[in-house]
Amino acid sequence: MTQLTTTFEPSTINVYMQQALRPISRRYLYGAYVDTLPVKPEDKILEFGSGIGVMAELLARKLYRGQLTCVDISKRYISRAKRNLRDYPNTSFVKGQLVNLNFPNGEFDAINLHYVLHDVPEENREELIAEMHELLRPGGKIFLREPVKESHGIPASETDRLFEMAGFIKTNGQERKMRFMGDAYSACFIKASNIRFFFG
Ligand SMILES: C[S@@+](CC[C@H](N)C(=O)[O-])C[C@H]1O[C@@H](n2cnc3c(N)ncnc32)[C@H](O)[C@@H]1O
Repeated sequence: MTQLTTTFEPSTINVYMQQALRPISRRYLYGAYVDTLPVKPEDKILEFGSGIGVMAELLARKLYRGQLTCVDISKRYISRAKRNLRDYPNTSFVKGQLVNLNFPNGEFDAINLHYVLHDVPEENREELIAEMHELLRPGGKIFLREPVKESHGIPASETDRLFEMAGFIKTNGQERKMRFMGDAYSACFIKASNIRFFFG
């Protein structure tokens, strides 16, 4: 097992810039995407790599009978996200990199990763995705959107390989050029339910 990266902190200016752009990101970059996600109001969702909480806020609005747990490796991002979502009692915040956070197995209906996996060191990805598999209930979903640029991204084929190797089944995936955000891959993966395996 490789050593997981446990620390990362953005500069203060980076956090301020993201905070200033928050209304624009929410409206023009994230809103339409979140509306496509098959989320039920009562779902329990984990957002892995939630940053300052822009997408988290859009998700929290949809989960008015459910729960959103935000996890991020950065203390600065987590504390900013906590402030940004202070009006949403259905949210909680944990600083960490997911493994060893002691969430019960099968706790979540879905895990959202938005522009995160490409930032996780390559040698840590398999272990993190295996942990996501444990944390989802059977039939639980991964929602993912990642940049695919060679200089800063992860190829769609590598994302598929990692999730399928961990036992997920891809239900859809498409690469698309997006305004301001470049080429990105969005996909949904499902944790196969035991019943399906049992009956073939
Ligand atoms: C490019 S930002 C995306 C933030 C947010 N998901 C969004 O789309 O606005 C990547 C985020 O992933 C977090 N991150 C990177 N590696 C991580 C890890 N191993 N565990 C938890 N969070 C991580 C960073 O701190 C940062 O908040």
